[in-house]
Amino acid sequence: MVSGVTLKIQPDAEGLAQTAADFISAQVREKPDLSILVATGNTPMPAYAELARRVQAGEVDFSRATAVQLDEYLGVTDDDPRSLWDWMRRSFVKPLGITRTVRLKSPAQFEAAVAELSGLDLAILGLGPNGHLGFNEPPSPPDASTRTLELTPASLESNAAYWGELAVPTGAITAGMDLILAARQTLLLVTGAHKRDILHAALDGPETPEVPASFLRRTALTVIADGAAWT
Ligand code: GLP
Repeated sequence: MVSGVTLKIQPDAEGLAQTAADFISAQVREKPDLSILVATGNTPMPAYAELARRVQAGEVDFSRATAVQLDEYLGVTDDDPRSLWDWMRRSFVKPLGITRTVRLKSPAQFEAAVAELSGLDLAILGLGPNGHLGFNEPPSPPDASTRTLELTPASLESNAAYWGELAVPTGAITAGMDLILAARQTLLLVTGAHKRDILHAALDGPETPEVPASFLRRTALTVIADGAAWT
């Protein structure tokens, strides 16, 4: 693996949640007005719940931080259960007492808002089973900008697991690779045997637009994975 990447393997979901919460807490202690790009998806949820517990206990304070939306489906309203904005608010913004947010509505609005924050301090990311970051679907080069796009069949399939009977919207908007890779720190959270091959491709394979996550090695990257995802 490329040097410069910090890899922390945890035995289980609980260990991953604690380790990720430690990492994120340390960042906000160091810089209380941290700007944080926030992934939804299943993987970070235990870590967010642990952060919420710590906030409740007065152990860490996110009141000056800004939560920045990573990705969204096109055409969903706020009250649609598939809204990723609402998922981010329920799981991260409200439980952590965050009052400042940047919503991803259009590329121009988003880029201006991130520029106003002087960029992203921390990107919390999950790993798509096809190597995507946010909705930067393969192929995505490192300079891919914030944009709308059509989801790949692989992402329609993997995202179907979230919504039961509801169809996965086919269009999406994502923070660009350019902004993600410019984050001062990146934290990639990965669990499960089904992510094993793509995690190895991302960390050990060639840097390629076919595996957008492979470009994370250019950043100050910390990966926290469970044993099933890294064996
Ligand atoms: C989804 C989202 C990503 C998320 C990734 C992994 O498609 N667009 O933002 O990080 O895939 O999701 P999960 O953590 O549920 O595996």
